[in-house]
Amino acid sequence: MTNKIQHIAVLTSGGDAPGMNAALRSVVRSCSFFNIQCSGVYRGYQGLIEGDIRLLDARSVNNIINKGGTKLKSARSLDFHEKQGRKKAFNNLKEHNIDALIVIGGDGSFTGGMIFEREFGVPVIGIPGTIDNDIYGTSHTIGYDTALNTVVEAIDKIRDTAISHNRLFFVEVMGRDAGHIALNVGIGAGAEEILIPEENLGLDRLLDSLRRSKMSGKSSSIVVVAEGDKIGKNVFELAEHIEKNLPDYEVRVSVLGHIQRGGTPTCFDRVLASRMGLKAVESIQDGKSGQMVGIINGEMILTPLSKAIKGKSKIKRELIRVSDIMTL
Ligand code: F6P
Repeated sequence: MTNKIQHIAVLTSGGDAPGMNAALRSVVRSCSFFNIQCSGVYRGYQGLIEGDIRLLDARSVNNIINKGGTKLKSARSLDFHEKQGRKKAFNNLKEHNIDALIVIGGDGSFTGGMIFEREFGVPVIGIPGTIDNDIYGTSHTIGYDTALNTVVEAIDKIRDTAISHNRLFFVEVMGRDAGHIALNVGIGAGAEEILIPEENLGLDRLLDSLRRSKMSGKSSSIVVVAEGDKIGKNVFELAEHIEKNLPDYEVRVSVLGHIQRGGTPTCFDRVLASRMGLKAVESIQDGKSGQMVGIINGEMILTPLSKAIKGKSKIKRELIRVSDIMTL
């Protein structure tokens, strides 16, 4: 290892995700292990522009491994989209004698990091932190596993009341343009149908499927709808459409919203975050830049940020088949 790096800054950016704190802890303690100074940048790129930068040591990150959210706070910075904003950010890094930057976030955050690296030559390494799991180059992003478990728990509760009242529930889940959360929780929570952006089921097939399920003797049902699905109606319009066309159904809608982003990270997310933080610090020391740390087949790997952003993480087609068969 070439150890020219003496000071690394770390920030969290974009939508927060459970496990971001565990990743921060790992970056700070890995720096400590390698005798590198570490600074935390508060409020993402906006904090970098405004100079909200503080030194952290191994003790600064005590008791956060189990906490959701992000101790560094997060923001979606519009100023960082402008060259002027990025120049201010660069000047602040120089003022603090910071040699490299670790960005914990999703594709928007990586796009900013990549542009910044190219403009100013600051080494940047990304750690994927988003509940959406929509990043190419890693099978899991930090926070995804926790979100899956949060949603399954919520749908289990909805199922209780759905059964009691013989109702059909449409449950909308997050995921932005990706259906990973919907597809997995749909299977895990035993949903009747799963609507995801990657596969347009179509309104007629949805009606047929619900008709068949009623005829087969099911008295209550759950349909999981990804927020980005392409069926052409939002979840409330969908519910109205079903009630109009299948009057036997009493329909309710539940939009889970931001509870999916909070809560105690699962063990999986904590371990993943700890591994990714260490790998990010080691990669910077190895002279790597413009790369994202990921996990593939259980191993830590690097993917260029440009690929991580452009390439889409694909849903597993096999899961669609599993879901179709399980709902017979
Ligand atoms: O990217 C994470 C995410 O929670 C998406 O699933 C969702 O579409 C979006 O962020 C919501 O963003 P905000 O919290 O800014 O409303």
